Amino acid sequence: MKGMLLQLSRSLSRAGPVLTRRVHSSTCRASTVSSKTKVDRPLNSDEIYAREDKYGAHNYHPLPVALERGEGIYVWDVEGSRYYDFLSAYSAVNQGHCHPKIIAALNAQASKLTLTSRAFYNNVLGAYEEYITNMFEYDKVLPMNTGVEGCETACKLARKWAYSVKGVPRNKAKIIFANGNFWGRTMAAISSSTDPSSYEGFGPYMPGFELVPYNDIPSLEKALQDPNVAAFMVEPIQGEAGVVVPDQGYLTRVRELCTKYNVLWIADEVQTGLARTGKMLAVDHEEVRPDVVVLGKALSGGVYPVSAVLCDDEIMLTIKPGEHGSTYGGNPVACQVAVAALQVIEKEKLAENAERMGEILRAGLTKLPKDIVTTVRGKGLLNAIVIRETKDFDAWKVCLRLRDNGLLAKPTHGDIIRLAPPLIIKEHELEECVDIIQRTIMSF
Ligand SMILES: Cc1ncc(COP(=O)(O)O)c(C=O)c1O
Repeated sequence: MKGMLLQLSRSLSRAGPVLTRRVHSSTCRASTVSSKTKVDRPLNSDEIYAREDKYGAHNYHPLPVALERGEGIYVWDVEGSRYYDFLSAYSAVNQGHCHPKIIAALNAQASKLTLTSRAFYNNVLGAYEEYITNMFEYDKVLPMNTGVEGCETACKLARKWAYSVKGVPRNKAKIIFANGNFWGRTMAAISSSTDPSSYEGFGPYMPGFELVPYNDIPSLEKALQDPNVAAFMVEPIQGEAGVVVPDQGYLTRVRELCTKYNVLWIADEVQTGLARTGKMLAVDHEEVRPDVVVLGKALSGGVYPVSAVLCDDEIMLTIKPGEHGSTYGGNPVACQVAVAALQVIEKEKLAENAERMGEILRAGLTKLPKDIVTTVRGKGLLNAIVIRETKDFDAWKVCLRLRDNGLLAKPTHGDIIRLAPPLIIKEHELEECVDIIQRTIMSF
């Protein structure tokens, strides 16, 4: 009976309307919670900001909102206010928060066998490997955990392939990246970055990396002519750079040039992949096949770090036992979660929905006043607006007011706001979101 009542009260609170919004303070006050203070009530938002500020590294600048629950396209803060999530954890939560099928897979495997390391076989890894390689039509997969590890693995594979197949002299292999790229925060990732806030103060940097402008075929062709080039690694749409969409035909030319100069094309689909842009992979928009594909984020639907590198035997088998790995990579929980996450994307036709909802979203956004929103761009449900900054108006302020109106989005590079809800969003929900965005912008 008690259980039933609890369930009833939970489902009532989930179905409830958007609560009246509290007024958020936009700054953290570290002094509000002392380290030794014992409170016998849940902390409020301000206290949560202060505690993180006091005990956590200051390597992020979060929007002030303290979340405690997520379901589908919504998240709730500790005061009970409900928000549309328009970041989706940087496209990790494509399937929506706490998707029941993914959580069921997680729970079932978590109580059976979690980690064996790759020192032994387990009965789950091979099933996942078979599933994902059949789905994406590559010979093999190499499982890792985070997106940056997946990209790093792809770079290692490219170097190994360059020495053992292409015949590049020892330690001379080069990898080309595009200006504005983002693939994480490790030493290798920041060594290819053009963003000073990523690389400044962390040198010396990884040798053998070169840069070309994004969406610039002549520059790419010039760089690829160097016989020591192993690979060109590129995002089909640059996510962190602010949803930069290259010209139609760019990916086709990348494919042609990489083939012409015997260079591996690595597509970093960590953010763009898994239905986000309206196709299973963003490269599918031009029906081209990279030599190596890196997936992450939504490969677990946001419940666990799972990443993967896909390629054919000629590349994958250049790495031999003992030459690469990860304790958690390919663990049974990750494998079950990934299969469930991929099944949800297919069964719920998330790519098709992202394509359709993306059209509706951009149509709504282009009606915003051009003197405030100068650009609307994106594909599927990976979109961004560019805000014309003034002395007292910028993307951060817009995001604070969006939050107060019930929608969470995060600014990037000062003037860009990424708009990327979970791909399960329905038309009437999206229309309400467009209305919130319009009302917010018009209120300035
Ligand atoms: C395109 C791309 N590649 C790689 C990464 C790194 O992924 P992770 O943060 O899981 O290491 C990101 C993260 O935002 C990304 O957007």
